[in-house]
This record gives sequence, structure tokens and C-alpha cells, in this order.
Amino acid sequence: MASHAGFAGRTYVITGSASGIGAATAALLRERGAKVIGCDLVEAEIQADLSSTAGRRSLIDQVEAYGSIDGVLAIAGGGKTGLLETNYFGAVATLTGLRPLLARSPAPRAVAVSSTASLAPTDERIVQACLDGDEAAAVAYLDADPSAGGATGGYGIAKRALNRWVRRVAPTPEWAGSGIALNIVAPGVVDTPAAANILNDNDIRATVEAVAPQPFGGFPGKPEWVAELICWLASADNRFVTGQIIFADGGSEALALGDIHWR
Ligand SMILES: NC(=O)c1ccc[n+]([C@@H]2O[C@H](COP(=O)([O-])OP(=O)(O)OC[C@H]3O[C@@H](n4cnc5c(N)ncnc54)[C@H](O)[C@@H]3O)[C@@H](O)[C@H]2O)c1
Repeated sequence: MASHAGFAGRTYVITGSASGIGAATAALLRERGAKVIGCDLVEAEIQADLSSTAGRRSLIDQVEAYGSIDGVLAIAGGGKTGLLETNYFGAVATLTGLRPLLARSPAPRAVAVSSTASLAPTDERIVQACLDGDEAAAVAYLDADPSAGGATGGYGIAKRALNRWVRRVAPTPEWAGSGIALNIVAPGVVDTPAAANILNDNDIRATVEAVAPQPFGGFPGKPEWVAELICWLASADNRFVTGQIIFADGGSEALALGDIHWR
């Protein structure tokens, strides 16, 4: 088995490990000599539904029973289960719940997966309820107005809130001060079951590609390409990168926003 100094002997928790980007990341890490504790709804070492409080608690308890960990990769998401519950609250609960155990590693790393959907117009009231940790209020706002957040809806809102949460907490004593790098990888359209609603309908596919072209790499991207970036950010070789939202999207974000951050 090939191994790699930044990964060998390390243990990673991966949520969403049964499919797509999570499965590709798990395969790469295993190839490089790491141990993976996969978590998903089915077909994983740990089966837990991260859209519920009980499922999140169960994930933490089960990982603690495994012992030490070196990386937490919060990849589970999409539209199978509650949009805000899974993509924001599930991811944040995974990261915060496992943080104390992770902090005991000599080179602790965490990555969450967001999306270019986080760039879409949003509903700030719901984003704020997420950041306040008020799940009941956030979900009630979205239930009352499912069109909130426009084209990317609750999914885009959840990913926007996740980006903002990571920007806030990554440089604090609990994360950077404890030696933990915490970053976001935000993919564009990638060929996985989560994007089937876009990719399997020629009209939707053409519309999305026209609105958000991916000039480098093509449309859609491949899960392995995103997994490579997640792996490096989560490796012991990442000694200086934290608090970043890195778009793995074939240039889609750069096309959409241009030099807006630097004006
Ligand atoms: N595919 C894309 O185009 C794309 C683009 C941007 C972001 N993403 C994000 O990438 C991540 C991975 O998605 P993917 O594209 O590999 O899709 P996928 O559907 O192949 O994989 C997602 C996995 O998450 C698991 N999951 C969903 N809800 C869960 C829950 N409540 N509890 C536990 N596990 C749950 C699913 O069972 C599945 O195995 C997601 O966060 C998704 O939002 C995907």
C-alpha cells in the first residue's frame, strides 16, 4: 500500500463517506496510509443521521469509543435530509462535538464542505439564526417561506452560514490556538448523486452551466479532484492554512466575483 508522510498513521472521521466526494476522500486517505472512520446514513462504520440531535450525539459517542483522531472532515450534505439541519447544524455539531478529542492530536486538522451555492443571494435572517445556533428559529423561518434564499434556497443559506461560522471560529483559541487548522472546501458542480438533479436534466444542466461556467477542468468536476484538496488541507503537511474558504470549482467563483475582494 502506498503511504504518505502527511497521512500515514493518522485517523480521520469522514461524514458522508458512503458516496461522492466523501467516498473519494476516504479512498485517497486509505491509499495514503491513513485510517478512516466513515459516517453516513447507511454503509459506513458509524451510521448516524446528522440532521437530528440524537444522530449528532450518536456520532460523537461512537467516535469517542474508537479513541484518538487526527482529522474531522464534515462532508455529509446535499438535499437528502433537512437542508439547514444537515448542511449547517449537522456539520457544525460534528466539528464542535469532536473538537476536544481532535485537539489531542499532534497535528489536528478539520475541513468542512460548502458549495458555490453559498455565493447566491441569501436570506440574512435565516443565516443569522444559524449563526446564533437557533435551529428551531432557522427551520421555522425556512418552513414559513421555502422560497427564502432564491434559486439555491435553504441549501445555499446553510452553506453561506457554514462559511461564515468557519471564518469566525477558525482563528480563535479553541481552534487555531489549539493547533487545529479549520478550512472550507467549496465545490462547484461535481459529478455525484447530489448533483443528479442538475446533471440528469439537459435543460437544467445547460442553464446551470451557462450561469456558472467552470472554465478550468470542465463541467461537471470529478469528486477525486475535490478530494485531493480536502486531503491536503487535512494532512499534517498543512502547517499554515486556516480559516479559508477555498473554491474547487473550475474558476466559477473567480468568474462570478472577479477582483471584488481586492478593490
Ligand atoms: N456534487 C456537487 O455538485 C456538490 C457541489 C457543491 C457542494 N457539494 C457538497 O459536497 C458534499 C458531498 O456531497 P456529494 O456531492 O459527494 O453528494 P453525495 O450524495 O454523493 O454524498 C453525500 C453523502 O452525505 C450523506 N448524507 C446526507 N445526509 C446525511 C445525514 N443527514 N446524515 C449522515 N449522512 C448524510 C449521504 O448519504 C451521502 O452518502 C455535500 O456537503 C454537498 O453539499 C456537492
